[in-house]
Parts: sequence; structure tokens; C-alpha cells
Amino acid sequence: MTRPDGAAVRVAVMISGAGSNMAALIDAGKAAGAPYEVVLVLSNDPEAGGLAIARAKGVAAVAIDHKPFGKDRAAHEAVVQSELEAAGVEVIALAGYMRLLTPFLVNRWEGRMLNIHPSLLPKYPGLDTHARAIAAGDDQAGCSVHLVTEGVDEGPILAQGRVPVLSDDTPQSLAQRVLQIEHDLYPRALADHCRRIRNL
Ligand code: GAR
Repeated sequence: MTRPDGAAVRVAVMISGAGSNMAALIDAGKAAGAPYEVVLVLSNDPEAGGLAIARAKGVAAVAIDHKPFGKDRAAHEAVVQSELEAAGVEVIALAGYMRLLTPFLVNRWEGRMLNIHPSLLPKYPGLDTHARAIAAGDDQAGCSVHLVTEGVDEGPILAQGRVPVLSDDTPQSLAQRVLQIEHDLYPRALADHCRRIRNL
């Protein structure tokens, strides 16, 4: 994907909830000279708060509810894929997207789909990362941006951010501290990856 024109890489952000990482990614993509631009936000939950935030920021936001598809994840992903193609998306950033993806989507976007996970991977893939870090007595926690592969939270790590775990932390207070650094880390990691892709 050589981009001699220097045009911004077209990014879709996929969410399921509040979308605070999504908002940080949109804002950073609007900065002068940014190597990417968020052109589409997709949610599997029509109630996701991030949808309205994206629209208020002038970004097209579409809900593709997974519920009518029942257990047929690939059928849901086929609709997601057609939205991505229609918008000319080149890179996907998962940001609090809480559905497991099948090989249908993961393999199509190999090397071009990123995720942010709220732990210092390879520690604590999956859910309840902050409670697990506290229960283990870890003195540091954090977040990881990684490429998405078929194994859940297993793909190559692109960047990590760290915060201290305080003696009176609850999972909620630790989650808040980690979320703050997610908003800085994810736009930088996405920008670096899009620069690499643009120069391939
Ligand atoms: C973030 O902490 C993100 O790392 C996490 O969900 C939160 C979404 O917040 N993602 C996962 O747990 C993925 N397994 P946001 O909607 O405000 O960006």
C-alpha cells in the first residue's frame, strides 16, 4: 500500500461502549500532518455512547447490532466487512470492542487491525484485568496496543504504557488511571503503524 501522495490512512474505529479511546483517536487524526484519519466508527451495540460522540465530531457512525445474527458471528462480520469496504477503510482500530472476532474478519485484516487491551500483555488477556493485577500483588499495571491475530489478545505488541498500582487501588480506580494513559498511547501507536503502512 504505497502512498506517494502522502494521503492519510483511512481508519475505522470499532467500539461497544463509551468510546473514550475512540474520541482520542478521532481528535489525534484531525491534527495537521496526522498520518491517519478516522473515517468511520462502527459499533455492535446500537446503545453505545460513543456513536453520538463520533457524530458530534463529524465522523460517520454506524451500529450493526449483533443480536439479530444470533450465534452466526461470521454473518455479522460479513455486514461489518461490507461497511468497511464501502467506506474505503484501510486500517481498523478496535477500541473497547467487546465481541470476539472470527477468522473471517481477522484474516482479512491481518497486519491492519489493532486493539488496545487494558493490561501489560502477555499478562491478563481476557476480562477483569485490573482485578487480576491487584489480586496478584503487581506493583505496575498498564495497557498494550497489539496487532489482532486469531488468538485472543495474543498478537504482536506494538506499544505499552505503565502506571503504578497503589496500595488502596480498587479495580475501578486502577481502570481510570490506566484509561488516562490509553488515550495518549493508542493515538501514538496507531499513527506509528499507519506511517509504516504508508511507506510499505
Ligand atoms: C478500555 O479500557 C479498553 O482498553 C478496554 O475497554 C475500555 C474501553 O473504554 N478494552 C478491552 O477490555 C478489550 N478487551 P472506552 O470505550 O472508553 O474507550
